[in-house]
Amino acid sequence: MNGRLNGKTALVTGSTKGLGRAVANAFAAEGAHVVLTGRDKAVGESAVAELRATGGRADLVVADLTEGLSAARHVAEEAERLLGGRVDILVNNAGVFPLAATADFDEETYDRTWTVNVKSAFFLTARLAPAMAAHGGGVVLNLGSIVTSHGLAGSALYSATKAAVESLTMSWSAEYGPQGVRVNTIAPGLVLTEGTTEGAEHLEAMAAHTPAGRPGRAEEIGPLAVYLASDDAAYVHGSSFTLDGGWTTARR
Ligand SMILES: NC(=O)c1ccc[n+]([C@@H]2O[C@H](COP(=O)([O-])OP(=O)(O)OC[C@H]3O[C@@H](n4cnc5c(N)ncnc54)[C@H](OP(=O)(O)O)[C@@H]3O)[C@@H](O)[C@H]2O)c1
Repeated sequence: MNGRLNGKTALVTGSTKGLGRAVANAFAAEGAHVVLTGRDKAVGESAVAELRATGGRADLVVADLTEGLSAARHVAEEAERLLGGRVDILVNNAGVFPLAATADFDEETYDRTWTVNVKSAFFLTARLAPAMAAHGGGVVLNLGSIVTSHGLAGSALYSATKAAVESLTMSWSAEYGPQGVRVNTIAPGLVLTEGTTEGAEHLEAMAAHTPAGRPGRAEEIGPLAVYLASDDAAYVHGSSFTLDGGWTTARR
């Protein structure tokens, strides 16, 4: 590793598993001190222990982002405390992806999905981006999805939240970019994670028709996230980066 994030601090939400964990591992490997978050304390402690065993600097904040503003504030404050007073990089990764026919969603699922996927990102950024600007700059990475580029039956609720996230990237880029805070989206395609294990067979079948011919692996997000978080991406603002093995542009 090249120490591209030496001296940086990072908060990655939903990072005890899946893509968030891969991002946290990649950041730590490049020298960042990383705060992981999730609801399950035991799983989180094990992820932090594994990361520390490789020489990385990591800490855990346990919080349920379904709780909205209070949880976002708690996570931001704890992260700042653990990271020595400042968060240089925020990755709004925590997300849930319930799939069902539109008529089958209940209000609780609707609200929970918007709260975890959008509201938590909104209030974490509201709390941390101004502080980044005050410290001379920072980075916000939002997790979008390829589902925003086309209609997908069963995904109306999830896709709407991810479209909102992509919109927030552009608005925040306009709002905070001039103050030194770069905001971008990573939009993954079909990636095998703890969250997609149940539908793994379906994912494999869908991915078979892409140029890559397979679903993504969580760790494949690492290099892109590191690049966007690093000074190498100093001129990259308000963009969305697709990481999907070609699913969006070139199926056969
Ligand atoms: N995997 C894909 O194919 C794919 C594709 C496109 C976009 N994405 C996006 O990438 C992000 C990560 O997806 P993933 O597949 O890595 O998910 P995952 O494997 O299910 O992991 C989700 C992470 O978020 C945490 N989390 C879930 N609900 C939470 C809540 N209410 N409060 C706090 N933490 C919570 C989980 O920990 P706990 O369970 O302990 O809370 C876990 O650490 C999501 O935003 C997703 O929409 C994924």
